Amino acid sequence: MRIAPSILSADFSRLGEEIRRVEEAGAHQLHLDVMDGHYVDNLTFGPMVVSAVRRTTKLNLDVHLMIERADRWIEAYSEAGADMIAVHPETLYHVHRTLNDIRQQGKKVGIAINPAMPLNMVEELLRDIDYAIIMSVNPGFGGQAFIPGSFERAKRLRAMIDNLGLSVQIEIDGGIDSGNVHEAVAAGVDVAVAGSAVFKAPDPAEAMRNLIAMSQDQSRPT
Ligand code: DX5
Ligand code: ZN
Repeated sequence: MRIAPSILSADFSRLGEEIRRVEEAGAHQLHLDVMDGHYVDNLTFGPMVVSAVRRTTKLNLDVHLMIERADRWIEAYSEAGADMIAVHPETLYHVHRTLNDIRQQGKKVGIAINPAMPLNMVEELLRDIDYAIIMSVNPGFGGQAFIPGSFERAKRLRAMIDNLGLSVQIEIDGGIDSGNVHEAVAAGVDVAVAGSAVFKAPDPAEAMRNLIAMSQDQSRPT
């Protein structure tokens, strides 16, 4: 189980320092939430900031695109230094082609699955991806409450992946903190994203270490 802090809740006036702190504290990869003010109401950052982040860290960059027509942006985010790119299938006319474009750029291919999307709608895509993000909040903002039932969805997705004999990794994104991260492990999740639980904490490095410890604590009931 790996933890990916999301910089969405970081202090952008000293982003490099924030990233260094969580990297030193053991973060396994970095989650970057790109929002365009159209697909979601919130507006964050584009390729320029991704490329600035690229220069400050060796961590793998997991770029979560919450934008319309993500197909037009795959090259830009690839060149900016993304290692992994996830798109929301409902934003695309030709999902298969876009997933292929991400692959052609040599990046890990991901899809993000909204809370209300039936899992069988993504079944056809599982052979074409490296990871799937179960959204445990509606996309758009950090600091929202975890939607109950999301771990169950992760479990069902894990079963679908295993039945097909695939090795797709599962991420969970939204409302994860040290109090529920152990449930993600039990649900077969490989990567837990945490934004506010890390960067809104008084000491983000401490919060990062605590999340890692909790995710490895087998004694907790699930
Ligand atoms: C929400 C984003 C998340 C967000 C998670 O649209 O995709 O990655 O940063 O933030 P927290 O952990 O605060 O729910
Ligand atoms: Zn995200």
